Amino acid sequence: VDHLLGIKYLTKGDIELIFKTADHFKEVINRPIKKVPSLRDITIANLFFENSTRTRLSFELAEKRLSADIINFSAASSSVNKGETLIDTVNNILSMKVDMVVMRHPNPGAGIFLSKHVKASIINAGDGAHEHPTQALLDSYSIREKLGEVKGKKVVIVGDILHSRVALSNIFALKLQGATVKVCGPKTLLPKHIESLGVTIEPNLIKALEWCDVANMLRVQNERMEINYFPSTREYVKQYGLTRKILDNLNKEIVIMHPGPINRGVEITSDVADSEHAIILDQVQNGVAVRMAVIYLLASKIKQ
Ligand code: CP
Repeated sequence: VDHLLGIKYLTKGDIELIFKTADHFKEVINRPIKKVPSLRDITIANLFFENSTRTRLSFELAEKRLSADIINFSAASSSVNKGETLIDTVNNILSMKVDMVVMRHPNPGAGIFLSKHVKASIINAGDGAHEHPTQALLDSYSIREKLGEVKGKKVVIVGDILHSRVALSNIFALKLQGATVKVCGPKTLLPKHIESLGVTIEPNLIKALEWCDVANMLRVQNERMEINYFPSTREYVKQYGLTRKILDNLNKEIVIMHPGPINRGVEITSDVADSEHAIILDQVQNGVAVRMAVIYLLASKIKQ
């Protein structure tokens, strides 16, 4: 069975194929009739053990546009609260003849674990602080759309790298496509051996922005912080918050990205998030076509 568990397991060729397929689906979903019958014989379960707005709705819409049958599961209203295990939960759902599972889970490696124990194609929709492969794919797809290609571009990922599955998947995806990547953030929010992934550290936000073509402003993940984590929100905003004034003082135009949800006024001010420099809603829009591509390509292997 084939899966999408992380960008770590993809090749450059895999990403190119996903983007080419997404180009086709982007054209499809801009037609008056946005649906194709490709996945009429496929059933997909969306299992969300952790909160989500964009990823959950984007997967659901992508599946509907492909004419798949879908069932949605949210842990908060399920028998997980009566003590049912992950494997029992998933095997019960699969016994209803489900072909593919999209799963978000708070534990790093949950998708990998599941893929070893159940007979279905698994798509990782975010596993703790580990990977969020479809987010990284839609991020790179959006850079490619805005700047022509990812190869040769300078991308800085700013903020809470330590708790970020978006950062890790983006680093893998960007490096694979030939971008140069810097990370910028307080030392306490950078993983210890981050440079071993082929990125460099720039602690100064202004220098990082002066250097880059694209700045991906990560959300400060307060829910994953231990108490009294340095810096405080006030210190963070002072050193790493992106404001309109900072952007206006740069000697160049840069593209601003954010995976959402935004802490407005923390990692980015509203006048930057809503500005012409930001492609935040383009990222969300591209998420549907990219997820259609991922689901379509995995489903074609199930059908073989
Ligand atoms: N970007 C992202 O994963 O957002 P959600 O948590 O709302 O799905």
